[in-house]
Amino acid sequence: MLETVLKRERDYGTPARAATAMVTLTIDGYEVTVPEGTSVMRAAAEHGINIPKLCATDSLEAFGSCRLCLVQIEGRRGYPASCTTPVEAGMVVHTETPKLHDMRRNVMELYISDHPLDCLTCPANGDCELQDMAGVVGLREVRYGYKGANHLDDTKDTTNPYFTYDPAKCIVCNRCVRACEETQGTFALTIGAKGFASRVTAGQGEDFIDSECVSCGACVQACPTATLQEKSVIELGQAEHAIVTTCAYCGVGCGFKAEMKGQTVVRMTPWKDGQANRGHACVKGRFAWGYTTHKDRVLTPMIRQRITDPWQEVSWGEALQYAASEFRRIQQKYGRDAVGGITSSRCTNEETWLVQKLIRAAFNTNNVDTCARVCHSPTGYGLKQTLGESAGTQTFDSVMFSDVVIVMGANPSSGHPVFASRLKRRLRQGARLIVIDPRRIELVNSPHIKADFHLQVRPGTNTALLTALAHVIVTEQLVAEPFVAERCDSASFEQWREFVARPENSPEHTAETTGVPAELVRGAARLYATGGNGAVYYGLGVTEHSQGSTTVMAIANLAMATGNIGREGVGVNPLRGQNNVQGSCDMGSFPHELPGYRHISDPVVRSQFEQAWGVTLQPEPGLRIPNMFEAALEGSFMGLYCQGEDIVQSDPNTQHVAAALAAMECIVVQDLFLNETAKYAHVFLPGSSFLEKDGTFTNAERRISRVRKVMEPRNGKADWEITMELSQALGYPMHYDHPSQIMDEIARLTPTFSGVSYDKLERMGSLQWPCNDDAPEGTPIMHIDQFVIGKGRFMITQYVPSDERSTRKFPLLLTTGRILSQYNVGAQTRRTPNVAWHSEDVLEIHPQDAEDRGVAHGDWVGVQSRSGETVLRAVITDRVQPGVVYTTFHFPESGANVVTTDSSDWATNCPEYKVTAVQVTRVSQPSDWQRNWSRFTDIQEKLLRERERESDTALTGK
Ligand code: SF4
Ligand code: SF4
Ligand code: SF4
Ligand code: FES
Repeated sequence: MLETVLKRERDYGTPARAATAMVTLTIDGYEVTVPEGTSVMRAAAEHGINIPKLCATDSLEAFGSCRLCLVQIEGRRGYPASCTTPVEAGMVVHTETPKLHDMRRNVMELYISDHPLDCLTCPANGDCELQDMAGVVGLREVRYGYKGANHLDDTKDTTNPYFTYDPAKCIVCNRCVRACEETQGTFALTIGAKGFASRVTAGQGEDFIDSECVSCGACVQACPTATLQEKSVIELGQAEHAIVTTCAYCGVGCGFKAEMKGQTVVRMTPWKDGQANRGHACVKGRFAWGYTTHKDRVLTPMIRQRITDPWQEVSWGEALQYAASEFRRIQQKYGRDAVGGITSSRCTNEETWLVQKLIRAAFNTNNVDTCARVCHSPTGYGLKQTLGESAGTQTFDSVMFSDVVIVMGANPSSGHPVFASRLKRRLRQGARLIVIDPRRIELVNSPHIKADFHLQVRPGTNTALLTALAHVIVTEQLVAEPFVAERCDSASFEQWREFVARPENSPEHTAETTGVPAELVRGAARLYATGGNGAVYYGLGVTEHSQGSTTVMAIANLAMATGNIGREGVGVNPLRGQNNVQGSCDMGSFPHELPGYRHISDPVVRSQFEQAWGVTLQPEPGLRIPNMFEAALEGSFMGLYCQGEDIVQSDPNTQHVAAALAAMECIVVQDLFLNETAKYAHVFLPGSSFLEKDGTFTNAERRISRVRKVMEPRNGKADWEITMELSQALGYPMHYDHPSQIMDEIARLTPTFSGVSYDKLERMGSLQWPCNDDAPEGTPIMHIDQFVIGKGRFMITQYVPSDERSTRKFPLLLTTGRILSQYNVGAQTRRTPNVAWHSEDVLEIHPQDAEDRGVAHGDWVGVQSRSGETVLRAVITDRVQPGVVYTTFHFPESGANVVTTDSSDWATNCPEYKVTAVQVTRVSQPSDWQRNWSRFTDIQEKLLRERERESDTALTGK
């Protein structure tokens, strides 16, 4: 069990070096052999000799400013700093001599003379490197007194919601500045002034909250004193124990140490050994966990017959019996397939497995789908067709071996921040960057990074652009012919080669469609094909289109044609939005596939599940989410079990979704809060947060990581237990005592998971599937010697314009995305201090389009499409190109999805969120939909409050 004793992780002082050449030296009489380039400090630490240090830490390059780590080297003059001195063969080093002791004590004396002596009341007491070093060097007195010039009265900056900056405690070690630069890549901090006056400054001398700081917390973690300190630690004190778990926000899947005091989280510290994040985190995972104890959480099961009735609090047994009897009643009245369920990419693999099992075995229908339908289903389809496996090909570490990176339809700095930091580091080392996005995302031009090409593609024309890139590669003879000949299917390649070479696919011909000048397309294609290791990272700006699957296949085509697949530094990498998108797909959440992406019509596969589950499964695929809505409106789909997913806010064409839900007779929502979907529910089953349960998440790298219970579920049950008990109530008992047993069943029935177990996860930290007899320790990089499909298959990517095109009535194209501080529908992050950065969704509009409409910055504007209208505040910016407007969808009252339409991907029905033809006009009041939403929300909140009053009365006996 990775329940760690709470102590600082071992710090070797400077980063490890990967050189193959080894160097042997002597330190304090011991012979030590380390890779070339290693610092003396690290060489000593690896041998168990800890040289005192303050400005050095092994996540950052050495800086050499504190002079505490001085050593003596035979044959050298003076006393060099061991952190900045590389080892040399035959070197003889002494780390402990009377002279060194004196010098170190003198250094510490100077530091302490300008430091408040409030150790006993300092929040870092017991977790302060300055304090530790004072002890290590044996400091007993400060000869200079404390009366001289000092910084003890400097003003504290408390503006960041999560941490404070107390300059009185700063020792100017520069660790925070370097963490912001090297680890995070934001460059928000500097050391202002010189000498005694020097102090850390955020931005241009601003408060933290007003600076470029993105609140990742890397500086706080790096700070050896309480100068930068988490407010939670100031408030709660030091933690007592720590448990390693996995972030429940984005698809990076960062490992964290939950530092605990009893049942209370004191802070979340990124896990140094986390294989996805390597000790780094973003503002969401590190700080935004307060929603788990938010007062809005509903902790008691509730039922009601109609959505106009007040909620009734009931026991778990009553709620589950009521839900089961309603599902059975509906099946009797409308037929077996009149019910279904939706699994969530926010839930664990084990929970998702159980939900799809319940639907298939207890409901005995295949009407199960997942929210991945509306984000990455085209990835599953497109990669399966071309490469043979529905998943990304690399590790995140792999980007450190890339020479050219294409980022397409993704904004990693906001959506996948920890990966963005890694990518930026590689770009600062010299890798080249091609951004394909309608919007000027942060990576296009940020501190020390400038994209070589920004192909500012018109929304909806990705396929035409990628085919034009392929045209250049083929017609300029840039194809990796030996790779293609050896690894790919020749017939499909020849057809594809002929297709892309057609004149109508040339950059010159497609420029008018895509809006991207031909010379930029040619330059980018040449760079990707010839620049060394080329990797593609893409997001929902690729998949959420009517041609999402085609575009995914176009990316795979490019990677195969240039030989950029099957080794470090290359590959096709979907950046998954939510924490367990990959896992929810792997676990058989799609209506046509059993776990492991095996078609439900396959009798052999089906019979394995039938034997294991003791039921006869239906051989026909069930309904996808949009089909469920259609069927509800037609009166043939009347009952829904929805776990951890807010379809009313997240799915397109809100009014259509709401009408479908209003038409159903029993909706069971299992969630933390009374979300938008729960307002239409008849049964509410309180869910548990990631801190309250055991399980696993699978991130964008196919990495399976453990989620560990750090506190008891406040609702009384983990989600897997709730599903199990619902199944029991339906007359299909399931028997598990712990999620590890569910994983054992997953492993038994899913060939790509057959080698996965909790024991192995405990030993290895995490595992990337496939993990089986062929790859017992998992598969970091896929398709190394051959594609999963055998020979890679090229697919024709004919561009078909979206129905969502600008017209006279709707002349602008709306595209949507997310922002760093908020997450998805915002249900979690809106209930944290993250609202300090983003408290409402706004509409970004180009100055020219704003001027044409008489819209000024901050005006309310109506955004109308053929689906509906909403009103947002306008932000005028040239981040978007003329003709394109942009918004986020984190707040329900914004109604971004009132405007999006039911246009969807031809292969998977993934909605075309990224292209909606709209008109924008200046308005002075909310839209009709917003007024109706407010009224409906007021009623639902009143019904919830009435339930709460009943409960209060019961408790107080009045
Ligand atoms: S929190 Fe992150 S972005 Fe902000 S100053 Fe610290 S390291 Fe830089
Ligand atoms: S704020 Fe902390 S990390 Fe930064 S210079 Fe001061 S003591 Fe060092
Ligand atoms: S990058 Fe993603 S997984 Fe990592 S801390 Fe941030 S939200 Fe969590
Ligand atoms: S630790 Fe080496 S100079 Fe500070």
